[in-house]
Amino acid sequence: MDIVPSGQTLGARVEGINLGNPLSDADFRILLRALGRHGVLCFPNQTFGTPEFAAFARRFGALEVNVANLFHEPGFPEVMILSNQILPDGQPAGLNDAGQGWHTDMSYSKDIALANVLHAHAVPTRNGKSVGETQFRDMHAAYDELPEHLKERLEGRTATHDFEKFWETMRQRPGSRRAKLTDAQKRKRPPVSQPLVRVHPLTGRKVLYANPGYTMRIDGMDEHESGRILDYLFRHQERADFLYAHRWAVGDVLMWDNIGTVHNAVADYTPDEHRYMRRAQIMATLDYPALVA
Ligand code: OGA
Ligand code: MN
Repeated sequence: MDIVPSGQTLGARVEGINLGNPLSDADFRILLRALGRHGVLCFPNQTFGTPEFAAFARRFGALEVNVANLFHEPGFPEVMILSNQILPDGQPAGLNDAGQGWHTDMSYSKDIALANVLHAHAVPTRNGKSVGETQFRDMHAAYDELPEHLKERLEGRTATHDFEKFWETMRQRPGSRRAKLTDAQKRKRPPVSQPLVRVHPLTGRKVLYANPGYTMRIDGMDEHESGRILDYLFRHQERADFLYAHRWAVGDVLMWDNIGTVHNAVADYTPDEHRYMRRAQIMATLDYPALVA
């Protein structure tokens, strides 16, 4: 296995490993450390099926079954399908608008996610270049680069995150197929409080844990002041040197850190330029500091 850093703030390619085979303990620990260090790992040219994909992801933590669980591989509720393809029977093949806006997966959940894994089966291309990239921002760097007085103000603070915020933003977009959340779905996903600054379990370093998709307000703070600070933080996250973009190729398995990054799916492709991804969300259920020690 060969880990080649991108040279940018995030990102590395991991060559010479077939994720369809069971991961050795040593490789598992190497990959955990690499995930902490690089935030986004790309494993190119992977060709296995759904069972192997789920087994690989499950090594890193328990897999989430999505609350809106509309599209998944038959027999694998934990493997979602993201796609803009329409099946011959007229039904959509997958969720067609996942992640289109800056967010962190599962920040709306008391139990947070460690990482998300996508396996690319169809990637839209135009003029020989792939479109539909996924962008990331480095929240280790974003925290480090905050002014000291703001670090002090955020320390020990929490913010409220709400699943419905991002869902409604997406639902309001023209042509959205999303339905209003039912009361039962809302009860499953009540707003939760999360620390604004947290120690990353893989790196032991502090990260800024807030994202425009789900973060509503800073708890126990005057609403105007909370809005002002969140606006500042979201603008700060936009600094060009925090950005990394992944251009997809068919066969890529992309694993990203959902504690130390925020991400955004760029929907610059048309309905007949097909994109098809398998997806598994890894919850932070293991003792990671012990595993990377
Ligand atoms: C997700 C997501 C991005 C993409 O699956 O949570 O944000 O590019 N996907 O599909
Ligand atoms: Mn996402």
